[in-house]
Amino acid sequence: MARDKNIYSCAECGAQQPKWVGQCPDCGAWNSLVESVVGNKNVQENPRFAGYAGSQSVVRYLDEVEHAAEPRISTGISELDRVLGGGLVLGSVVLLGGDPGIGKSTLLLQGIAALNNDFPVLYVTGEESLQQVSLRASRVGLQQSRMRILSETQVERILTHAQNESPKVIVIDSIQTAYSEILQSAPGSVSQVRESAAQLVRYAKQTGTALFLVGHVTKDGQLAGPRVLEHMVDTVLYFEGDTSSRYRVVRAIKNRFGAVNELGVFAMTERGLKEVVNPSSIFLSRHQEQVPGSVVMVTREGSRPLLVEVQALVAECHASNPRRVTLGLDQNRLIMMLAVLHRHGGVAMFDQDVFVNVVGGVRVTETAADLAVLMAALSSLRDRPLPRNLVVFGEVGLAGEVRPVQEGEMRVNEAVKHGFTRAIMPKANVPKRKVKGIEIIAVEQLSEAFECV
Ligand code: TYD
Ligand code: MG
Repeated sequence: MARDKNIYSCAECGAQQPKWVGQCPDCGAWNSLVESVVGNKNVQENPRFAGYAGSQSVVRYLDEVEHAAEPRISTGISELDRVLGGGLVLGSVVLLGGDPGIGKSTLLLQGIAALNNDFPVLYVTGEESLQQVSLRASRVGLQQSRMRILSETQVERILTHAQNESPKVIVIDSIQTAYSEILQSAPGSVSQVRESAAQLVRYAKQTGTALFLVGHVTKDGQLAGPRVLEHMVDTVLYFEGDTSSRYRVVRAIKNRFGAVNELGVFAMTERGLKEVVNPSSIFLSRHQEQVPGSVVMVTREGSRPLLVEVQALVAECHASNPRRVTLGLDQNRLIMMLAVLHRHGGVAMFDQDVFVNVVGGVRVTETAADLAVLMAALSSLRDRPLPRNLVVFGEVGLAGEVRPVQEGEMRVNEAVKHGFTRAIMPKANVPKRKVKGIEIIAVEQLSEAFECV
């Protein structure tokens, strides 16, 4: 077969070259040329793709377009349904990213096995042999599943199989192993990942098939391959938490069919992933006695409130510049908070190392952690534990004011549910009706929060 014409385009300026060169002659960027195909005509005209050539396009008026509410299919794993926004939507494309060995293959195998009874499933593995998949299936108790599996990495062949079998759900594990024959670059390269994903997404959209793509992440936590991948899909899910801990968190980074930042919490057991239905209780390290530097806060991730413990350690620094280390929080935010503490709380930490950690490997992305971080740091500096059964949340502004956060009442109710009896929170967040069982301390300034403990 004659090869299609390939060109090399610069990822920085878009200039096109007939040959690969190390430096773009137009903009001077180094190593920015990636291989691509002229147009995508060859894919459309290829007889193998004739089956889903797509319909003629027409211009319509918005109010004339009839639509039905997307029917949701339950995967049988409620935490997975939750991050998907209430179940899987047929015709949607979901990208699942995460570190190696965190449980991506396990989660998808378990998630789609239950679907297979009503919707035919095709599981395409490019990384493991069929025996390995079968071994894993029997380990998680799915040896009886009549699911179709395929070991293949070439996209065109995967699509031919898909057309023959016409599954309603396809899993590609992983997109980095897939390659298209129309490009010459190696599997896993930017252009291959992009082209393979584009072909698979086109197939999914035109046939109404739900598609899961497994993606690897690089050392700095980005999905390997182009960011384009995130734009092409409807939903991006990330596995968080470290592989050594038992608990795994799946977070929705982008979702066209649901809330972002929604969390699904799982525990890895010897029989696969088990959902954790009440996650608040696992992120608190239950000390016998209160220890300095530990504060419980109520965070809200997606649509659900979650109790997490923020720990701080402030220790005298013997180097020339003190360290600010965070795990599960934004480091720049900590630096800013320490500056606010210095200016408006009168507490200087320029000669102290500050370490802050969120227990359990969760990542807190919202500003409601500000007050908890400051109180934990101060508690550690003074070596004085905070009272038992206290929860704290609130955003701290640069002027030392405590600002309201979203869904104050929901957070208070969550704290009450877990037996907390005191809450320090922004004044504007205080629930209108009195909440039974909890004493609410409303604060407007940082100094007020420090005074009351
Ligand atoms: P896996 O799903 O292969 O990860 P990924 O596809 O993200 O690379 O997860 C494998 C890890 O999970 C591996 O370290 C073994 C562990 N594991 C269990 O502890 N219990 C189980 O039942 C299974 C299937 C895996
Ligand atoms: Mg895997």
